[in-house]
Amino acid sequence: MNASTELLQLQIARRELQTDHIVVLELRSPDGAPLPAFDAGAHVDVHLAAGLVRQYSLCGDPADASRYRLGVLLDPATRGGSQAVHRDLQLGSTLQVGVPRNLFPLAAGASHSVLVGGGIGITPMIAMAHALHRAGASFELHYCSRAPEQAAFLDELREAPFGGHVWIYHDERGDGRRFAPSTQLPAPAPDVHVYVCGPAGFMDWVIEGARVAGHAEVCIHREYFSVEVDTGGAGFEVELAQSGRVVQVAEGQSITAALAAIGVKVQVSCEEGVCGTCLTTVLAGVPDHRDVFLTDEEKADNDQILLCCSRACSPRLVLDL
Ligand code: FES
Repeated sequence: MNASTELLQLQIARRELQTDHIVVLELRSPDGAPLPAFDAGAHVDVHLAAGLVRQYSLCGDPADASRYRLGVLLDPATRGGSQAVHRDLQLGSTLQVGVPRNLFPLAAGASHSVLVGGGIGITPMIAMAHALHRAGASFELHYCSRAPEQAAFLDELREAPFGGHVWIYHDERGDGRRFAPSTQLPAPAPDVHVYVCGPAGFMDWVIEGARVAGHAEVCIHREYFSVEVDTGGAGFEVELAQSGRVVQVAEGQSITAALAAIGVKVQVSCEEGVCGTCLTTVLAGVPDHRDVFLTDEEKADNDQILLCCSRACSPRLVLDL
C-alpha cells in the first residue's frame, strides 16, 4: 500500500494538559537527533498499545526539526485511541511513530488562504499558519470552539508571530461573535483556498458556507479526524486480480476483515475512511463509497476504494491486489 512503514522511536519530552480533555505532547528523539521534515498539514501515525494506530496532525512549526507536537482530545466516544494517548503517554514515555505523511497540503501559488479550525481541528492549522507566515503569504486563521476552557492553544495563538492573522470565536460566550462562513469568507477566486478541519458537523457547515459563497470545490480543502462510518449493507464478492482469488464479503463485514480471513493483510490505520492508508485501485465493478477521504469527483470515477469502510454496488469488485 502507499503508506510508509518506517517507524521512529520517540520520547515524550513535554506533556501539558491544556484543558480538561486536551493534552499537548512534544515528541523528540531520545538522542536529540533532528526528526524527519514535515510539511504543514501533515500527520503521523501514533502506534499505541494493543495494536492501536491513530493519526494525529502535527501542530508545531514545520521549520523546527527538533520536535513533533500533537494535540489530542480525549474522546470517550471513539474506539480507545485518545484514551490510550491520555492514559499511557506520560512524560518520558517512549512510543513508535510513523514518518510524517501529508494528505492535507497547502496549495501552491495561493494569493490568499483561509484556515478554519473547529475544536481540536485547529492542530493542522497551526502548522499551516507557521508555514504561511514564514513564506510571507497572505492568510487568515479562524479558530472556533465552544468555550475558552475547552480550547487549547489560545495563548500560543495570541502570542504567535502570526497572531495578527488569528480570529477566535467561542460559541458559548454569547457575545454574538461567531464565524459565519457564507458571509465572512473572502471573495472566491481560483487562487483563494479554504482549509477546514474539525468535527464532521462543523466541517459540513463550513464547507457548505464556502460553496454558497461561490468557492470552487477544488479550492475547499478538508481533513476529517473522526467520522461515524456506516459499514452496513449486503454481501458481495471481491476478486484479487493479481492472484485470481475470490473472497465473499459478508453482510456487515468490511473488505479488510474478509481479506484478513483468507490471510491477505491490507495495511490500515484509522479504519474509518479518513486517512487513505487502505486506498486501493478498482479494476472492475462499482464501489459503494463510504469514506470521507476521496473527493466527490474521485468517487464518481469509481477507480479507487477505501477497503476499511466502503462496499460494493455491483455483485463483484475486482481489485488491483
Ligand atoms: Fe484509514 Fe482505511 S484505514 S481510510
